[in-house]
This record gives sequence, C-alpha cells and structure tokens, in this order.
Amino acid sequence: MPQKKDINQVTKVNKQIYIETYGCQMNFSDSEIVASVMMSEGFDVAKKLPEADVILLNTCSIRDHAEQRVLNRLRELQHLRKKRPGLIIGVLGCMAERLKSDLLEGEDKGIRVDMVAGPDAYRQLPQLLMDAESGQKAINVLLSADETYADISPVRYAAGGVSAFISIMRGCENFCAYCVVPFTRGKERSRNPESVLSETRALIQDGYREVTLLGQNVNSYLWKDDGVRTGFSELLGMVAALDPKLRVRFATSHPKDISDNLLHRMAEYPNICKAIHLPVQSGSTAVLSRMNRKYTRTDYLDRIRAIKEILPGCAISTDLIAGFCGETEEEHMETLSLMEEVGYDFAFMFKYSERPGTLAAKKHKDDVPEKVKTRRLNEIIEKQQQLSLISNQQDIGSVQEVLVEGRSKRSEDQLMGRAENNKVVIFPDESFSQGDYVKVEITACSSATLKGIPVKE
Ligand code: SAH
Ligand code: SF4
Ligand code: F3S
Repeated sequence: MPQKKDINQVTKVNKQIYIETYGCQMNFSDSEIVASVMMSEGFDVAKKLPEADVILLNTCSIRDHAEQRVLNRLRELQHLRKKRPGLIIGVLGCMAERLKSDLLEGEDKGIRVDMVAGPDAYRQLPQLLMDAESGQKAINVLLSADETYADISPVRYAAGGVSAFISIMRGCENFCAYCVVPFTRGKERSRNPESVLSETRALIQDGYREVTLLGQNVNSYLWKDDGVRTGFSELLGMVAALDPKLRVRFATSHPKDISDNLLHRMAEYPNICKAIHLPVQSGSTAVLSRMNRKYTRTDYLDRIRAIKEILPGCAISTDLIAGFCGETEEEHMETLSLMEEVGYDFAFMFKYSERPGTLAAKKHKDDVPEKVKTRRLNEIIEKQQQLSLISNQQDIGSVQEVLVEGRSKRSEDQLMGRAENNKVVIFPDESFSQGDYVKVEITACSSATLKGIPVKE
C-alpha cells in the first residue's frame, strides 16, 4: 500500500528542488513521481523558485512552439546562477529525450544545462544530480520497455486535493505521422492493475473525489497475469467500483480502439463521468490516411453514433490539427463539416508543426503556407466557439452536479467546479468547501463557462 508523503512534514535537508512542468497531463503526473523519488532521498520540494538549489524543467516536444518556450525559460533562468552558486538546472521529459546531449552543449546560445534525464530515467535522478554536482556529464536518456514506476507513490505537491491523475500506462506505438511521442516516450506498456487500485484507494483515503486515468491510448491498456487478461474496460470498472462517490475520468481514447464494450461499462457505473475525449485530428479520410491514424471519417462517425446511442447526452471533445501536409481547401472544409456533424462540446486546436524524425517529416512536405494554416486554424476555432456556445446554451435550465475545486479566479465570492460533462461551472459561495458535490441550476453561459445558482434541497 503506497504511503502518501505530506510535503509539509518532510524534514528539510539542505537541498531544495523546484520542478516546473510543461506539456500534457502525463508530464504533470511524472513530475509527481520525480518529487517522490527526490523526497525519498531527503530533498525538499521548494514552493518558490528563488529558494531552489536544483531547478528541474519537465518539458514537452509536441510542437516547435512548446520547445521554444522551454528554451526561452532556460535562457531566462541563467541569471539565478549568480545569486545561487552551485545551482543545478536539469531538463527532464520529452525534450530531454529528443535532444539528448545537444542540451548539454548549448552554452554558446546562452543556455547552460547541467543535467538531462529522459522519461524512463527518473529513478536515476539522485545519482545524476550527484554527477552534475561533481562536474561530470550527467545524462540518462535510455528508454525502457517495462518501466512504469508502479511502486512509486506520487507526491501530489501541486494538486488542490480534489482531483488527481493516475498514469495507467506509458509510451505509445501508434506512430501517427505528425507525432513525436513514440520517439520521446518509447514502447507502450501497461501498469499492474493492483498498483492502480492501491493508488486510487490511497487517494480516496486522503479525501480525493476525482481521478483521471491517463495514457496516450488508454483503450489499448492490457495486463496479463497467470493467463488472466485485464483490459481497459475491466480496469475502469474496478476503479469505479472502489467508491461510488469517486468520479472517474480517463484520457485519451484512440478512435480506432474505443469499443462498445467500454461504452457499456461507462453506462453501468454512474460515477464514471459521461465525457469522452476522442481526438479526430482531421475530418478528411485522405488526410487521416496521410496522418497514419488508421480510421476513416466514416469509421470515426460510426464511433460517435455508438457513443450517442449507448450514452445519450455524453459530452464529446476532440483535438484538431490545421494545415497538415498536403491539406487542400476541400479537405479543410471536411474538418469543419465533421465538427458540425459531431457537435463537439469542446476542442483543443493546433496548427501543424513539423517534428524532426517523425514519419511526416520523412515522407511528406510541410507545404501548407503559414498564412493558410493560420487562417484555417482561425476558422476551426471560430466554428468550435459556435459549437461550444450551442452546447453550453443547451445546459441552461438543467441541474448539474458540480464538484467544487476552489474559488473562481475572477471573483472572490464565487466558487468554481466542474460538472460531470467536464464543463467549468461558476456559482455563488454559500459556505461550500473544496471537494463538496453541489447541485447547481445553470442560469447563464458563455462559450467557455457555465454560470448557475445552488439548488436548495
Ligand atoms: N495521445 C493522444 C494525444 C497526444 S498529443 C492522442 O492520440 O490523441 C495531443 C495533441 O497534440 C494531438 O491529439 C494532436 O492534435 C496534437 N499534435 C500532436 N503532434 C502535433 C504536431 N506535430 N503539430 C500539431 N499538433 C500536434
Ligand atoms: Fe501521438 Fe498518435 Fe500516439 Fe497520440 S496515438 S501519442 S497522436 S502517436
Ligand atoms: Fe508533450 Fe511529451 Fe506529453 S511531447 S504532450 S510532454 S508526452
């Protein structure tokens, strides 16, 4: 049974580490593993950057922009070396894996990095740190076929105490043509279901009310033990069965693998949130084929039909890429028409960014002009804003069960929480606490949030 380490109870030793996280939820979850590894070695996790002896940036390579942000940050951090002699700056995560020792050689560009650790090397961090402190080359970017950090209980140092992420698998072998993840995260591997369950139990005991099971492609989760196979729908059911008051979410599903079986499992448990993130990327079968997504527009729409049939009212969100290699105006229009046909509640939308080493970089030309990419992205964003507004307007008059996360950022006397459909709901504070479930009648909305008033019972 993993033990939760309270950050405030750990004895302060002389070294303080500060972790800054970029990129996806996976990375945020990994930073909690890093914190756990470092704290079990006697380090403390600093709350403020200027107090840190060791600064670790857990980085993302998904688009060029994500890497540029980290490089700028690294440049900016160098001045702290004057104030804190002996300061160690380390790069972790996907950029560490992609750029490897190049990162240790950027001093001429104003970027000095002392330590580099890829996503499967976090157990070695204390050793790497010692190497860095003694002036040796400190780098480990070996990818593993079986590391899942299953026995390490993450330190929830950044979470608010209501909602937590649990990684159930690592890596990805789908090789979508545009994507760097299979190269930075390595082979797909699932984590022992028992360790997922015991981590969930520990979270429940600590008062958490919501967990999100994470993987790049959760539908291909598979654990084999003595001839017994546990797939994702089994695991999801096992987690949901632990406590009916615990909300269970998951991300991300791949359209080629999401089965009716999973949808039926979701229907069975009221505490599995009826919200599915199903990234489509493009509405054109020809583009999907160039992207190596392994489904057609028709296949995708068939899955949407199944969701709407088996889980009426289920929220559906997606990811979209504008201006992938060779995308014609007609193909772009197919994306807009698919968005309309599905009626997404929410979407993450991106301009295609070529990543070195990927299938697309090798095989296809990044030939959609920047201006055209921008225009297409704006059209996609505009379309989604209309769809989100329609979706939110449909919730007006309904009563939503909202899990309170904290105060609204905009106004002190308002609280903020999420409805089951994952939409943010703002409502007046009537002495509710973080972690409470509150029934809220939705009275107004924008394209981004719902507003409401608590229902008197
Ligand atoms: N595993 C998830 C998502 C991983 S990355 C999945 O398969 O859906 C998150 C999103 O970033 C992707 O869904 C995609 O929309 C976007 N993305 C990935 N690589 C990209 C690239 N090179 N350029 C632009 N967007 C990209
Ligand atoms: Fe990337 Fe595709 Fe894997 Fe998602 S499924 S992480 S988009 S390769
Ligand atoms: Fe970025 Fe790596 Fe996640 S590239 S999106 S941090 S898996």
